[in-house]
Amino acid sequence: MHVLIIGGTGTISRAIVRELLTQGHVVTVYNRGLRTDAPPPEVEVIRGDRSQRAAFEATLQQRTFDVAIDMISFTADDAISTIRALPNIGQLIQTSTVMTYGPPFTALFQDIDAPLNGRHDGGYGAGKVAADEYLLGQAAAGGTPVTIVKPSFTFGPGQPLFRQVDWGTNWIDRLRKGKPIIEANEGDNYFQFLPAADAARAYVALCGMQAAHQRIVHVVNPTPTTWHQWHTIAAEVLGVPLQTVSVPWDVLVAADAKRYSALTTCLGHTQIFSPQSLLDLVPDWQPHIPLASAVAETIEWLTANNRIDDCATDPLEDRIIAAMRQLRGTFHTP
Ligand SMILES: NC(=O)c1ccc[n+]([C@@H]2O[C@H](COP(=O)([O-])OP(=O)(O)OC[C@H]3O[C@@H](n4cnc5c(N)ncnc54)[C@H](OP(=O)(O)O)[C@@H]3O)[C@@H](O)[C@H]2O)c1
Repeated sequence: MHVLIIGGTGTISRAIVRELLTQGHVVTVYNRGLRTDAPPPEVEVIRGDRSQRAAFEATLQQRTFDVAIDMISFTADDAISTIRALPNIGQLIQTSTVMTYGPPFTALFQDIDAPLNGRHDGGYGAGKVAADEYLLGQAAAGGTPVTIVKPSFTFGPGQPLFRQVDWGTNWIDRLRKGKPIIEANEGDNYFQFLPAADAARAYVALCGMQAAHQRIVHVVNPTPTTWHQWHTIAAEVLGVPLQTVSVPWDVLVAADAKRYSALTTCLGHTQIFSPQSLLDLVPDWQPHIPLASAVAETIEWLTANNRIDDCATDPLEDRIIAAMRQLRGTFHTP
C-alpha cells in the first residue's frame, strides 16, 4: 500500500511511519519540516502547511494514495479540507481522541457509544467531535470511507513526558535532583498510558481494512495505570527514589489556577476506555512495549534534545510543598 500521513514526524506519526516501513509499505508524509528528527530516507516528504488550505488541497489533489492517515485534523474545517484534498482516497484514518468523551467521563471502560461530553469543552474535544461527525456523515452519504481512531494518552520520543499536575517537564529535573514532586490527591486517578509504537501497530493494522470503514476505534492501553505508578516508573528509570507530597486538587488550583488547569481539563480525571472496538477488528493486538522502556526512550530523547525544563526556574512547587509540610506540622501532636 502507498500510505500518506498528514503530519508524519510527530510522536505517534513517526512511530506509524516506522511500522509501515517495517511492513513493506510505501510512505509519503506531509508536514512543514519544523521537527528536528527527519523521517527515514526512504520516506517521501511533501513540504507544506495544511492551514494554507488552498495550497494544501491543490498539492494533494495531484497525487494518488491508497490510504491517508490524518494526524493533525482538529476541527470540522480541517476535516472538510482533507476530504477536498483527497477526493479519491480508498480510506481516510482520522486521528481523534478519547477527550471527545469528557470531562466529565461518566463510566469506567467506556466504549464507543459513550456520551460525547467533550463536545462541551469549547476547544480540543469539541473540535474533534465536530471533525469526526463531519467525516462519518459524509461517509454515510456515500463519500470517502473513514476510520475514526481515538487514542488514549500516547507517548514517546517527540513530545514532553507529562506528569499528573501540569504539562511541564521540570518534574524530571526535580526527580534527578532528588527533590519531591507534587501529586494531586496522592496521584490516584487512572490513565491508559500507551507507547507510541504500540499505537502504531494498531493504526497500521487498520490501514486498508474494509471492515474498519465507518468504524470508531479506541486505541488504548487495556491496562490502566495510576499517575502515582507512572511517576514511580519514571523515578525507577532515572534510578532515583520517588518522593511525593500529596496536595488536594483544589488547593493546587487555588495556588495557581492557570498552572494547574490541566488537572481540571484533563489529567486529574480517571480516564479508562474499553479496547473492544480495536480487538473486534484486530483480535491479537496488545501493547508489547513495557512502559518503563518507552519512558526511558522518551527521557533519552528529551535529554538529547534539551527539552527538560530546569526546575530552578519554577519555585512554586517548592513553595507549595513547604506550605503543606508546615500545615501538617501545625496539626502534628507528638
Ligand atoms: N499523544 C497523545 O496522547 C494523543 C492522544 C489522543 C489523540 N492524539 C492526537 O494525535 C495527533 C497527534 O499526532 P502526533 O503525535 O503524530 O503529532 P505531533 O507530535 O503533534 O506532531 C504533529 C505532526 O504534524 C506536523 N504538523 C503540525 N502542524 C502542521 C501544519 N499546519 N501543516 C503541516 N504539518 C503540520 C508536524 O510537523 P511540522 O511541525 O514539521 O509541520 C508533525 O509531523 C493529534 O491529532 C492529537 O489530537 C494524541
